[in-house]
Amino acid sequence: MDRFLINGGKPLSGKVRVRGAKNAVLPLMAASILVQGKYELHSVPAVRDVKTMMRILGVLGIESDLSDEGILTLDSSNLTGHEAPYKLVRTMRASFEVLGPILTMLGKARVSLPGGCTIGARPVDIHLKGLQAMGADIQITQGYVEAQAEKLRGGKIFLDFPSVGATRNLMMAATLAEGETTIENAAREPEVEDLANFLNACGAQITGAGSDAIEIEGVVELRPDNYTSVPDRIEAGTFLIAAAITGGDVLVEGARREHLETLIAKLEESGVSLEIEEGGIRVSGDRKLQPSQIKTLPYPGFPTDLQPPMTALLTLAEGTSTIAESIYENRHAHVGELIRMGADIEQEGRTAIIRGVDHLSGASVMASDIRCGAGLVIAALAAEGKSEINRAYHIDRGHEKLEENLQGLGADIERVN
Ligand code: EPZ
Repeated sequence: MDRFLINGGKPLSGKVRVRGAKNAVLPLMAASILVQGKYELHSVPAVRDVKTMMRILGVLGIESDLSDEGILTLDSSNLTGHEAPYKLVRTMRASFEVLGPILTMLGKARVSLPGGCTIGARPVDIHLKGLQAMGADIQITQGYVEAQAEKLRGGKIFLDFPSVGATRNLMMAATLAEGETTIENAAREPEVEDLANFLNACGAQITGAGSDAIEIEGVVELRPDNYTSVPDRIEAGTFLIAAAITGGDVLVEGARREHLETLIAKLEESGVSLEIEEGGIRVSGDRKLQPSQIKTLPYPGFPTDLQPPMTALLTLAEGTSTIAESIYENRHAHVGELIRMGADIEQEGRTAIIRGVDHLSGASVMASDIRCGAGLVIAALAAEGKSEINRAYHIDRGHEKLEENLQGLGADIERVN
């Protein structure tokens, strides 16, 4: 099982480019079910989750190939299957977003419930309620969702919570439904808007994506078009935080200000100096961190996926910070590991109270999900001495060759197995 060995204390410097967003590419791949034909997605990161989604599409009869240059070719001319099996869905929850596309294309779908993960129970009730509002018959049998619908019909859907996955699943289902669908209280993430842009390029009629009210006029069919997803704002934010905690000077190419407003505001509040440049965002200057009070929220609020990296940063602020996690009930596995590195954190329910310390010390720690792992890498880059980040495969799910990118910025990090 791979792990990272990190010798901390070196300021990062140089430039690093982020690729397409994992959380945009995965639904764009699920959308291949809707657009019968061959097309390319560009700037696709070679991460484990993309490979898992390729296998799930393969089970449905959709062939795909990912080149070294990040070009993913998909051929959905031969959609044969309507089932997504538990053994694949449980390893990557986003695969649940094939449900809406399969159902609207084939009139029936059998998709495994994804189950929970370390950060929370992660139910899919909002997805299912929305499909029922469009006329689907939904049964839960043996841990699978069995859905039937001769033809989905447009309807008015109000999401109890602006779920990113449910918004995308329902938007995709509605593209080929009869009539007009409105999704109220929709998720506003850039990865929702990106999916709508792709679908519209394929002939869909979607307006309002990126706002909390999305309207979809059903069409008869969609034809594929090549597409490049938005850059990965979470990976960009991860590199910005890594640069800040090491007191380095790094240009993150591809980072877009409009996707990172709250992170930028919070980093500046913490005393980090950032410059918005033509091709990206630069962090530079010594580390003199001020405390911050943060609450994670649906976009455009502070992103939950940057909560563990931000927690790591604030362990070294000069004062007491708080981070309240409002999206997931259990996203604090990194806290115990940071404490092992000398951090002073008290977890009270969903809120971490972080009292700044003078330094962190290297230790052997355990990654339990992508962003927990990223937070521990960030802490290890700043810690005095050697750290070992176990279960690097979690990190590989969302960060392509993280150790190579960090080596390119001068970090003393290596992957061992
Ligand atoms: C997407 O997950 C992202 N994954 C997550 O990133 C991200 O943390 C999350 O959005 C929030 O921004 C992908 O895009 C592939 P949600 P998703 O549905 O769609 C509750 C990463 O590290 N909920 O917005 O699963 C749910 O339990 C991953 O890259 C329901 O209660 O997120 C959670 O508490 C982690 N019922 C909250 O909503 C539902 O039917 C947010 O979930 C659906 C969700």
